[in-house]
Amino acid sequence: MRVAVTRRLFEAQIDRLRERYEVVTWDSDLPPSPSELVELLSGADGALTLLTDRIDGDLLDKLPDLRVVSNLAVGFDNIDVPAATERSVAVCTTPDVLTDATAEFTLALIFAAARQVVAGERAARDGDWHTWYPMRFLGIDLKGARLGIIGLGRIGARTAELAQALGMQVAYYDPGTEDERFERQSLEDLLSQSDIISLHTPLLDSTRGLIDRDRIRLMRDDAILINTARGPIIDTDALVEALQQGKFRAVALDVTDPEPLPSDHALYGFDNVIITPHIASATEATRLEMARLAVDNIIAVLEGGDPPNCLNPEVLDRG
Ligand code: GLV
Repeated sequence: MRVAVTRRLFEAQIDRLRERYEVVTWDSDLPPSPSELVELLSGADGALTLLTDRIDGDLLDKLPDLRVVSNLAVGFDNIDVPAATERSVAVCTTPDVLTDATAEFTLALIFAAARQVVAGERAARDGDWHTWYPMRFLGIDLKGARLGIIGLGRIGARTAELAQALGMQVAYYDPGTEDERFERQSLEDLLSQSDIISLHTPLLDSTRGLIDRDRIRLMRDDAILINTARGPIIDTDALVEALQQGKFRAVALDVTDPEPLPSDHALYGFDNVIITPHIASATEATRLEMARLAVDNIIAVLEGGDPPNCLNPEVLDRG
């Protein structure tokens, strides 16, 4: 059998595939174009994909041998899961192993945004540090601050726990979840009352553009907005417009729309905006575990076993 891997990854994990299958890999740090992706995956029984690879019905129609798409991510908005299910292709993901790393990075952005870490570092580096300033680089205390979590799944809940340990008052909006450790709020109340708002929903039709002009208007002018989920949950134009009008104490984005964010994008023009290149799960241990899990998923599907994380187990042939 043949397995295609769409990016360079931990060799020891790819070797686990090589021991069993013919393996083709995409040997560039940049993603294959759509036509290069078809070529790479053609004839493959399994594909180890990244969130930058768009897998839809048109592509799958060109890959009749494909039995599993194993995404190196917890998110799967790059994959048309119903189209895969219709074609009996299993779709697998790597949840859980990245929960702590992603929540911890969310806290890193909260600290950075609340305490002007990036602006302070930039000033020091740029020669703009002349004395001890009693009134410069002032931030907010996290102890006692209201954190509003939108989406209390695994990562949202872990972020909430960490924030609570810091003495933050944590509230959440999630129509599908009840967790009595935290205060449940309507979206409107959460948006209008939070000092810090952090997004943790998957990207779905119902969450695309969730943070639009009207909802930004509900937020306090001195709110801090954090996004470690998916860029298109925020309407980028509405965000830029609000920033231009002086809204927000700070905004910290690990994900953007578009992604990557072009170097001349308006968002880079604001001193109170922090942008990182989609690195919330990027610890050595976590990325290794993600690769291990993605490989486990492929092997299980191709050997007729039970993959650890399959979104559409109804297509599995457990022969
Ligand atoms: C990263 O964004 C992921 O979905 O794992």
